[in-house]
Amino acid sequence: MTSTLTAVVTTTACLVLHLTAAEQVASLPQVECPEKEGVQTYPHPELCDQFYLCSNGTLTLERCQNGLLFKGGHGATHHHCHYHWDVDCGNRALELIPLSSDGCEFQFGLYTDTAGACSGKYTRCEFGRAQLVECPPGLAFDVTIHRCQWPDQLEHIGCTAEQVTGFKCPSGIPSDPVSARFWPYPRFAIEGDCEKLISCVNGHPRIVSCGEDLVVDDSTLTCEEPELVPNCHYVQQRRRRSVRERRSDRTN
Ligand SMILES: *[C@@H]1O[C@H](CO)[C@@H](O)[C@H](O)[C@H]1NC(C)=O
Repeated sequence: MTSTLTAVVTTTACLVLHLTAAEQVASLPQVECPEKEGVQTYPHPELCDQFYLCSNGTLTLERCQNGLLFKGGHGATHHHCHYHWDVDCGNRALELIPLSSDGCEFQFGLYTDTAGACSGKYTRCEFGRAQLVECPPGLAFDVTIHRCQWPDQLEHIGCTAEQVTGFKCPSGIPSDPVSARFWPYPRFAIEGDCEKLISCVNGHPRIVSCGEDLVVDDSTLTCEEPELVPNCHYVQQRRRRSVRERRSDRTN
């Protein structure tokens, strides 16, 4: 959708490109939004950090925050823009000048001050403010892909899956028949935890979460509806409480 509509914006927008930014905005009413309802975005034909935004037929020229670029689509970090490492600018000019502040190279970005070390923590910068974030349990931050990653994929920065997960996979097929059923990826329960289990991949433990609505059934080592797992009281209580809270939120 974006590509066909880009042509519409491109041909008309080219007329105003030689003007200054202020003049461009002033000139924008010459360019019409192809759709009169809803919110649509269109890449700027020449600049990777700018884009056109149509809100119910009103067109504006927008600029991504520092560290972000425009590619359109889902998963945007802030105001329709994505982290710069995630954007292929193609022929659009790319100008990335860091506006650094404490702990933040760009105003928006993900960083780690423990580069080259195995850590489940990283820094998320928004508007130049750094916030410490933790990876989901059992994962470590991979600075090269800016994402949390299985520690067995991060041996080059000193991660060992055993250290991060606190579990050591047995070598060979496990003696427990339920665990062995999942060979070559045998599973193990985590004592006292019915939301996650261990799955061994190439002999390395990975912590797998059942997700929001399911819990681990120890007797099968599968994720099930909590109703089917009566021994997981903790999660059931918490679920009941959160359902109650949601209900009272709605009535308030
Ligand atoms: C667009 O118009 C609809 C209907 O009038 C309104 O509900 C909605 O909030 C508007 N959206 C924007 C982005 O202005």
